Amino acid sequence: MKRDFLSIWDLEKDEIYDIFHLSDNIKKFLRKDESYKPLRGKVVALLFEKPSTRTRVSFEVAVHQLGGYPIFLSSKEIQLARGESLEDTARVLSRYVQAVVIRTYEHDKLVKFAATSDAPVINALSDLLHPCQAMADYYTLWQKKRLDNIKFAYVGDGNNVCNSLILGAAKLGIKMVVATPEGYQPDPSILKRAKDKKANITITTSPLEAVKGADVVYTDTWVSMGKEDEKKIREKIFKPYQVNRSLLSLAKPDVLVMHCLPAHRGEEITDEVMDGKNSIVFEQAENRLHVQRAILVKLMK
Ligand code: CP
Ligand code: NVA
Repeated sequence: MKRDFLSIWDLEKDEIYDIFHLSDNIKKFLRKDESYKPLRGKVVALLFEKPSTRTRVSFEVAVHQLGGYPIFLSSKEIQLARGESLEDTARVLSRYVQAVVIRTYEHDKLVKFAATSDAPVINALSDLLHPCQAMADYYTLWQKKRLDNIKFAYVGDGNNVCNSLILGAAKLGIKMVVATPEGYQPDPSILKRAKDKKANITITTSPLEAVKGADVVYTDTWVSMGKEDEKKIREKIFKPYQVNRSLLSLAKPDVLVMHCLPAHRGEEITDEVMDGKNSIVFEQAENRLHVQRAILVKLMK
């Protein structure tokens, strides 16, 4: 049976670790063995409704390195833009390609597409979730042996990235404190899932409470794709949530600073923090490639 990857919730804890190990192993195989091409003869479509730098390029490179062929499809340039239904697009694409990577707005679109497509579907970001990002983020912490007994602080908008980090924290048993302004909390359905799993997730409006004694401090843009018309009001509301030197001084001295990128320097994070010695934001970005190779191999084997 084909398997999709729409949410970290789709994976058991041991499968998450399997993907981390596989990410390491693929790195070694590619270095040592030129004939290692697990996606040979396979085509992967990347259907994007929103802009992307990291996700698009890392997926295209990943497919290429594994011996497959990536086809990038901007939703504006295919018949979806002229009203062809999502389901018909799924039926057609899955007759040509062996996996579809989708970046979209409503998460339901991904669910609908996956239900119709015979090819595995990978969530490359929806308004609700960004599971490939969270997998790369936890892989980054795992590599640094910083997954056990940590306090993980998320400060900012309780959106797609935050939702996926919460689901990952719930699966991996990580203590997480999320600080968002009132009205910008994570999705209630996500929090319910985490709660049902007895996850150690605290929601607060205080960035100070979240960051105090934290081992990891994570932030994301205040203005996600699709929210551009709320930019002014959001910048005002989120101002106290900026990750700057003063806020970071409350965390442990060896705190790791994370950001999914793209960053809006001077808004959710200062240059000083983003370029400082505690920042691992570009390692996270690199790890998108390593982890997505493993996700592709796992789903397409
Ligand atoms: N972090 C991330 O998904 O970046 P892009 O929007 O550039 O893909
Ligand atoms: N929350 C951001 C993440 C970008 C990778 C957005 O949805 O725009």
